[in-house]
Amino acid sequence: MLEVIHVSDTHFGPDRSLTIRGANAFERAEALVAAIRALPFVPDFIVHTGDVVNDPDPAAYALAAEVLADLPAPVYYATGNHDDVPMMRRTLAFGELESIAPESEDCLCYRITGSAGDKIEGFILDGKVPPSEGPHGYLGEAQINAVLDRITGTKPVAIFLHYPLVPIGSKWIDEHLLVTNGLAFQRAVMEKAGGYLRGIFSGHLHRGLTLYRDGVLHSGVSSPACEFSAAPGDTSCEFIPGGPIPFHHITFTKDATMVKAYSLPFSTGSPR
Ligand SMILES: [Fe+2]
Repeated sequence: MLEVIHVSDTHFGPDRSLTIRGANAFERAEALVAAIRALPFVPDFIVHTGDVVNDPDPAAYALAAEVLADLPAPVYYATGNHDDVPMMRRTLAFGELESIAPESEDCLCYRITGSAGDKIEGFILDGKVPPSEGPHGYLGEAQINAVLDRITGTKPVAIFLHYPLVPIGSKWIDEHLLVTNGLAFQRAVMEKAGGYLRGIFSGHLHRGLTLYRDGVLHSGVSSPACEFSAAPGDTSCEFIPGGPIPFHHITFTKDATMVKAYSLPFSTGSPR
């Protein structure tokens, strides 16, 4: 049994004043941390699937590190399209891990180790592409092979990354926000892990997502900063500010993956 908290897209600014369409990112991230601390159990680890900050800036990562240090368990971060890996490495505290793509300083690709790593084969992948290419993701061959090489087919496998892998049925998102080789990657993992593939967990959409494809669970958690529209015919992504504070509680057992979605009311000055 493994208890995991999944958060994403905190979008910290360089100081406490950054607002995103009227929502204060710092206050909302503080409320997120307070809500996780108030849970009546301590998770084995917490995964943050990227966009820790709104713009890569050492001051924003310093603020994020200060707030997220209050989380009650080791944290694993994935790279978002708004993130900078060298700054993340310098500023954020990660749980025990084994880097599996060490050839690149700009790539956060690793396996979760420590006691959690004894129970699942958990991989964090880095789908970031140069910002000039847009907000979609792509997984390089070295990362894919590094993950496939480490899947033994004897333990539950969980994949965490910023970008969703497969279409979600919303035009703009499907054209702009996915991992462009995501489906091929999913199929390769399925081939190696078989029935042990226990879920693919992402952020980026600023929208809670449950998707089932080819026998695989995809679960996405929304952003505490703001939500995005995801209607079938959307030709752009609309911001929906003033939403609740979201996080997911994922439980991995021998037989099941269970995801409980939290959606808590936010009010200015929520106690930390
Ligand atoms: Fe984001």
